[in-house]
Amino acid sequence: MGLFGCAAAPATPSADGGIDATAADVVVPDDVTSDADAVAAPDDALAGCTPGELEPSELRCTGLYASWTKRTIVADALAYVPGYQLWSDGAEKERYIQLPPGSQIDVTTMDDWVFPVGTKVWKEFYAQVSGKKRLIETRYMVKGPDDLWTRIAYVWSEDGSSAKAEKDGVAIAPGTTNYEVPSQSQCARCHGGRIDNILGFEAIALAAPNATGLTWAELQKKKWLKSTNNGHEKAASSLQVPGTTTEREALGYLHMNCGVSCHNAITPGTGYVARLEAAKLGSVAATTFVTELVNKQSSWVAPGSTAKIYRVRPTDASRSAVYLRMGMRDPVDGKGTQMPPFASHAVDPSGRQMVKAWIDGMTPAAGYPAPAP
Ligand code: HEC
Repeated sequence: MGLFGCAAAPATPSADGGIDATAADVVVPDDVTSDADAVAAPDDALAGCTPGELEPSELRCTGLYASWTKRTIVADALAYVPGYQLWSDGAEKERYIQLPPGSQIDVTTMDDWVFPVGTKVWKEFYAQVSGKKRLIETRYMVKGPDDLWTRIAYVWSEDGSSAKAEKDGVAIAPGTTNYEVPSQSQCARCHGGRIDNILGFEAIALAAPNATGLTWAELQKKKWLKSTNNGHEKAASSLQVPGTTTEREALGYLHMNCGVSCHNAITPGTGYVARLEAAKLGSVAATTFVTELVNKQSSWVAPGSTAKIYRVRPTDASRSAVYLRMGMRDPVDGKGTQMPPFASHAVDPSGRQMVKAWIDGMTPAAGYPAPAP
């Protein structure tokens, strides 16, 4: 936990992603349609757009809508919910993926899928504004002909009439008090954590029991996957996070919130690996969560304390850097100690509780070493 963020990260914290809502008070909107309502014939959806433009100035021109007027989603942009998700300060999210017709995802390397050129993904962020759930931003990524990804956020006007590209992000989204939209360089800090950019549309999260929509099993059924090692035929049961319910929740949470973006082998300088790997799901002890965190002394020093801190100290969250730093947010402590280091202004109480429950249960009887001094 020694360094501040991902390798590509600047040395100072960059604030983004704040939000003035909690998941609990978000209501289901009556004005948002789903792909079930999609119509085949576009009306005004692409009028005036430049075909093939990777970074259009309007969301409408990315091809997400069958009808812009009705806000219906195109039929072949399929919705999915990964079983493990990134905490986004309480925002509710909807996700869609579209592959070019007839193309497949190469899953030969199970932890680093390769997507076909032309793959598009969208993630919508909803927050509670003046008592009503409202779409604030839609993030978009497309894999271009040169194999490079374009990533950009479209910010919705308060009345929902337009969604415009904001390459530099926005400090406070229209109509909100503290919702910040990330810039393109911030997208890259997290999405550079995988060789082919995509973070949550992955084997372990889509095979998880609570994944919905386009799950691992659905992908198999639709023949969206291919491999040269029969990896695409793997049973979902072989991709489950190991351990008790408490262990599975904590490992899945840390994998998606820390591991896929930064704490992994392809992002140097983040201190340790906290990402699950499809080939190492046999037992909790086999995961890097145990080998690289438990009883490993942290180079981080807790503000105002001289106690020896470990990344994770069995049964002792109070001297476990992972738990402590998840509970910090800048500028509250003003010291750049929060984790994740940016893109969040609010602690995730439930995620932190999952991690605490895991640490509390790390007894010798449960197979963990005694706490280091
Ligand atoms: C703090 C890290 C972080 C930042 C900053 C970030 N993302 Fe992501 N993003 C993630 C993670 C982790 C997921 C997968 C988990 C989920 O969907 O909840 C994800 C998911 C997505 C997805 C769905 C496809 C996928 O990769 O799973 C899209 C689209 C997306 N992000 C676009 C963007 C864009 C565009 C930006 C910048 C404007 C951005 N993101 C900034 C971490 C980040």
